[in-house]
Amino acid sequence: MITARTIPELRAALAARPGRPAFVPTMGNLHDGHIALVRQARPLGDVLVTSIFVNRLQFLPHEDFDSYPRTWDADCARLEAAGCDIVFAPRETDLYPAPQTFKIQPDPQLADILEGHFRPGFFTGVCTVVMKLFSAVFFASGGGTAVFGKKDYQQLMVIRRMVEQFALPVQVVAGETERATDGLALSSRNGYLSTGERGQAVQLSQALRALAQAASAPGAPPLAALEQQAMQQLAQQGWAPDYLTVRQRHDLQPPQGAAAPGTLVALGAARLGGTRLIDNLEF
Ligand code: PAF
Repeated sequence: MITARTIPELRAALAARPGRPAFVPTMGNLHDGHIALVRQARPLGDVLVTSIFVNRLQFLPHEDFDSYPRTWDADCARLEAAGCDIVFAPRETDLYPAPQTFKIQPDPQLADILEGHFRPGFFTGVCTVVMKLFSAVFFASGGGTAVFGKKDYQQLMVIRRMVEQFALPVQVVAGETERATDGLALSSRNGYLSTGERGQAVQLSQALRALAQAASAPGAPPLAALEQQAMQQLAQQGWAPDYLTVRQRHDLQPPQGAAAPGTLVALGAARLGGTRLIDNLEF
């Protein structure tokens, strides 16, 4: 596996391995969820590139940019074992040698709701870095495939929309969420949980499952009432929920009237102690 630190180094490494890249962008601290995306990407291109870059642009000043776990040696060992060809791990000055004053402003209807409402500017930071990573990875080949996890459901939708609107020659493929045996969605931020909190953390996915079941029941009460009830129950279990909500999958807007089965997604974000977790469930 080759390590590239700069965009020219990455492009030189890709020039030596012609073909279409399959690409998995990450912020490192890789867990089984990331590795599943890497394995899924392996047959989707001629050369497999993974990036590791903790992107300051997508963190608010009070968030965990400085403490975000950086586990370089373990990440490289896992990537190599998963068949990654090139790890692109720029330093901050490699990717942002000057302040990044040109930014991608995503559609507010999609990006200023849910995560974007509670983390203003988050998707501007994500889109800006992903556009730059796509430029670095796909420039020479003229395109390829990028794999994003459904765990970050809204991020996947925002990236899909960006790719469509800019006609980028990138096929975006979704990877299923990997879960621990108790059902907790794998996330780098699970590492912040105390032992007690870790035992409780599955309550978020349980709350989403209960919400989805209640919303699908014949003669169900209005969604707003079910969502409020779900938030209250989670709060009683000691969480501070930001949102638990049912949305249309295709645009993440509230469903208009009766929705066909298989078109909705329940999404949630809540804080347990000092850790903010997100999860979702398609139904
Ligand atoms: O999902 C992530 O890890 C990040 O948001 C991404 C896509 C690597 C951009 O920094």
